[in-house]
Amino acid sequence: MKNTVVTFKEAKKTGDKLTMLTAYDYSMAKLIDGSGVNGILVGDSLGMVCLGYKDTLSVTMEDMLHHTKAVTRGVQNALVVGDMPFMSYQPSVYDAVKNAGRFIQEANAQAVKLEGGANVIDQITAIVKAQIPVMGHLGLTPQSVNMLGGFKVQGKDIDIAKQIIEDAKRLEAAGVFSIILECIPSKLAELVSKSVSVPTIGIGAGNSCDGQILVYQDMLNMFSGFKPKFVKTFANVGDVMMEGFKNYIKEVQDGSFPSEAESFTIDETALDKLY
Ligand code: KIV
Repeated sequence: MKNTVVTFKEAKKTGDKLTMLTAYDYSMAKLIDGSGVNGILVGDSLGMVCLGYKDTLSVTMEDMLHHTKAVTRGVQNALVVGDMPFMSYQPSVYDAVKNAGRFIQEANAQAVKLEGGANVIDQITAIVKAQIPVMGHLGLTPQSVNMLGGFKVQGKDIDIAKQIIEDAKRLEAAGVFSIILECIPSKLAELVSKSVSVPTIGIGAGNSCDGQILVYQDMLNMFSGFKPKFVKTFANVGDVMMEGFKNYIKEVQDGSFPSEAESFTIDETALDKLY
C-alpha cells in the first residue's frame, strides 16, 4: 500500500513506529522499497556517501533532482521525500517554493525536507501553502555545520534544548507533517515527541521517537571509515561486497570466469565462413 503523509499522521495516533531509510539511485530504491519501509529520504547526505564530499554543503539542486528522479522511478509504496540542499531555500521564500516545487513536478517526490526552526518558518509556511508536504529537521542540522562548529550532538545544554522544543512546536504550527530529530539526547527527543502532534523521526535521538531513519550505507556497513555512535550494523554488506569483488578478480585472473555458462555460442557453419 502506498504510504502518504496521512500514513505518517495516523501512525502518531496509533503508536505504530515509522521506518525510513535513505536512497540515492534506482536499484537501491527498488530494493529498499521492497523491504516495506514507510518512507525513503533522498538525503543531501548524497554529497558525503555517494559524491565523496566532506559535508553536504556542495550538493546542488541539480544533484538532488537527478538522484530523486532515479529513486522515484524505483519506488512504489514508500513515501519519497526530497531533501532540499543548502542555498535552495535559505535565500528567500520565493526560492524555497520554486525549488520545493521542482522536487514534486520534475522528480516526482511526494514531499520535501528542509533543515531549521524559527529561521525557516516563512519558507515552510509558504511551501505548505503551495500544497507541498514538508518534513522538518531539528537538532544536528548538517547544513549548519560551520555555525555549529562541527558534527556534534545538540541540545545537551538547557538553552539549545529549550530552543529545539520551541522550534518543534513552531514547525508543527507551520504545517510540517513530520520532524526529523538528529543527534539529540534521548530524553530531549522524548520531550519533543510528546510536545507535538506530528511524528518525530529519530536518527541518533533514542527510541522514544515515533519512527527512525538511517543512511543505508551506514546500517549495511558499507564504509570502512568512521561509524557514528548511533549507527547499528544490521548486515555486513560491505564485507559481502568486498568478498564478491575479490572472487571476481581471482576468477578473471585464473581464467575460470567467464566459463561456457556465461558465454554465447555461434553456429559452426557460420564460424567456418569466418576463417
Ligand atoms: O541527508 C540525510 O540523509 C539526512 C538524514 C541523516 C536524516 O538528512
